[in-house]
Amino acid sequence: MDASGDRAPNADGPLARASELVAASKRIVAFTGAGISAESGIPTYRDSDDSLWTQYDPDKFANIHYFMQDSSLYWRFFQDVRYQVMATAEPNPGHFALAQMERAGRLRALITQNIDGLHQKAGSEHVIELHGNTRSIRCLACGERYTMEVVYQQLQEELPPPCKACGGLLKPEVVFFGEALPANALNAAAEEASSCDLLISIGSSLQVYPAAALPEQAKARGARLIVVNKTPTPFDGIADVVLREASGSVLPVFAAEAERTSANGDAP
Ligand code: APR
Repeated sequence: MDASGDRAPNADGPLARASELVAASKRIVAFTGAGISAESGIPTYRDSDDSLWTQYDPDKFANIHYFMQDSSLYWRFFQDVRYQVMATAEPNPGHFALAQMERAGRLRALITQNIDGLHQKAGSEHVIELHGNTRSIRCLACGERYTMEVVYQQLQEELPPPCKACGGLLKPEVVFFGEALPANALNAAAEEASSCDLLISIGSSLQVYPAAALPEQAKARGARLIVVNKTPTPFDGIADVVLREASGSVLPVFAAEAERTSANGDAP
């Protein structure tokens, strides 16, 4: 209701309803997928013709068994396709909005499937990375860690890049298909999903398990569920609100609402 008593435009629309849920929730958890980074220039995996897995077969380019047989295919893919995108990507308004909600004390955890590190770059601190982070590369033999920048330079000389300490096989610290998710991250994420009162799923097709089970788990434990995704997901039917919109335009509205309710002392 605005000052004139007229109902604000779209006051009954899904964005207004979602904002009301944000304002009323005490323990909000965000769950993000590749869609939140699409507006930063990082391709999604499977929803459009220029998505990564519609151009590159994940069974070859992101499968641990294939990698262990011949890592050179992955390292060429990293050198020619992934590195530049990851090295130049910057956070977008969606990432900054979630960091703002955390600073306002209204976001208790951010669970991400993304490996691009943009949530941390935007200022989010409590980030649970279910699928690891491509910015860190580790030797499978001795455990020595390197930055992706150092390994990219090394790739100009030799491919695959051997560990400088022991000559072992290097692999980015991301979860390949065929690998288990890091137990500590998955347990922490399950704990947050089970104890939140609102889970906001953002930019995920919700098709890859066990990550995709988390929004449903939150809902089953009594939380409200908001899905922000440009295309339909398998969990739209159980969501309290579905926003078929860009995360970069929706999340700043949530952040403003979170700050407004915190500033007014209305925060639940
Ligand atoms: N705003 C909101 N949603 C968007 C936007 C946007 N700007 N752009 C794209 N989307 C949506 C798409 O409609 C799509 O459904 O983001 C979703 C991204 O889905 P996927 O590409 O499947 O990415 P994700 O769900 O993160 O994949 C999960 O699969 O390959 C593995 O490890 C990889 O972490 C990844 C996992």
